[in-house]
Amino acid sequence: MSEDMKSILSDFYHGKKVLITGDTGFKGSWLSIWLHELGAEVMGYSNGLPSDPCNFTLSCLETRIQHITGDVRNFDYLKEIIDRFQPDVVFHLAAQAIVRQSYEIPKETLDTNVMGTVNVLEAVRQCPSVQSMVIVTSDKCYENREHVWGYRENDPMGGDDPYSSSKGAAELIFRSYLKSFFSRNGTIGAVTARAGNVIGGGDWARDRIVSDTVKALAAGKPIEIRSPKAIRPWQHVLEPLSGYLVLGARIARDPKRYSGSWNFGPADSSAMSVGDLVTAIIDAWGSGEWKDVSESNDPNIHEAGWLRLSCDKAHALLPWNAVLSFEENIYMTVKWYKFYYDYPTSNMYQFCAHQIREYMRIAAQRGQEWAQY
Ligand SMILES: NC(=O)c1ccc[n+]([C@@H]2O[C@H](COP(=O)([O-])OP(=O)(O)OC[C@H]3O[C@@H](n4cnc5c(N)ncnc54)[C@H](O)[C@@H]3O)[C@@H](O)[C@H]2O)c1
Repeated sequence: MSEDMKSILSDFYHGKKVLITGDTGFKGSWLSIWLHELGAEVMGYSNGLPSDPCNFTLSCLETRIQHITGDVRNFDYLKEIIDRFQPDVVFHLAAQAIVRQSYEIPKETLDTNVMGTVNVLEAVRQCPSVQSMVIVTSDKCYENREHVWGYRENDPMGGDDPYSSSKGAAELIFRSYLKSFFSRNGTIGAVTARAGNVIGGGDWARDRIVSDTVKALAAGKPIEIRSPKAIRPWQHVLEPLSGYLVLGARIARDPKRYSGSWNFGPADSSAMSVGDLVTAIIDAWGSGEWKDVSESNDPNIHEAGWLRLSCDKAHALLPWNAVLSFEENIYMTVKWYKFYYDYPTSNMYQFCAHQIREYMRIAAQRGQEWAQY
């Protein structure tokens, strides 16, 4: 582990066995790199690669972590892997994570996101080595009442589209496992983490705005935007991941105090329209243009209004705060893609690790306790 990774996080994760479901995904690949850099022994469990290219492959992660190809819907195999590995910490990120695709494959989305979560909870419940578990859901788990104020962790669950309802349902099931098992025996700290609109390098998933934007920019084509006026609270992928890592460490040490649900969102100044986000990316890229294609929108696909999270709980109790400005977020994101498109045969692992170290340096400088040593 390098000197600049030394922190409260490395104190906890160094030498720990960590299982990550969804390790091949956008967030999972960054989390795997971060944990590997912190000195953890990482095992990943995913059913395949989410896109071509993808950060997991570009960072040659299979040479650094143990990767298992498996489906979270297959309880027996998942349990066998967890029992064999005996993890200290589990991060559950595997999901059908795209709202638009959930309209095309609602049953698969619900099977994966709801029953997949049940399977993880059940396998962990039966595994005595686990000290802490972080289940990643979404800000879309809330019943969206189009409030102008931020949703708090104790607001009602909901979700109009299949993806959002799958995350609301996963939250309700989590709560029942927490109350019925984890809180009762008090040995496993368990949390759900809710964040949304995450951007950063290495995401090529379909129907995500940054992914669509860089693909168009790299191909020299105009970027087609379906909802240029929709306002979203954009945050860099390392921001919620730092929250997940802090939670994983805190709940292991004090499960009673920290178990439950947590929101992770950016400062209000990071809420921008999709059009403004794409314009900022074009400016940082140095060329490109976008066009409004909102007239071709399918009226059956509901675009939620601005959903804002209140992160007061994380600010006060973890403590955790988002540290990057909107401009810094765009700068880091575009820098990542530029590097990749300029040097497409590079191993992106070192570039990701460098951005993580830089992020930790900024977080420590801006007073984040978890990044200090
Ligand atoms: N990216 C965002 O903006 C965002 C926002 C809110 C919540 N989330 C949540 O964060 C988590 C990670 O999202 P992401 O952006 O990295 O998604 P992603 O689509 O990039 O990756 C999904 C991962 O899950 C795995 N997976 C999918 N179905 C599986 C199955 N049946 N069995 C095993 N593995 C399976 C994929 O192989 C991949 O590793 C998800 O739970 C997602 O719902 C993401």
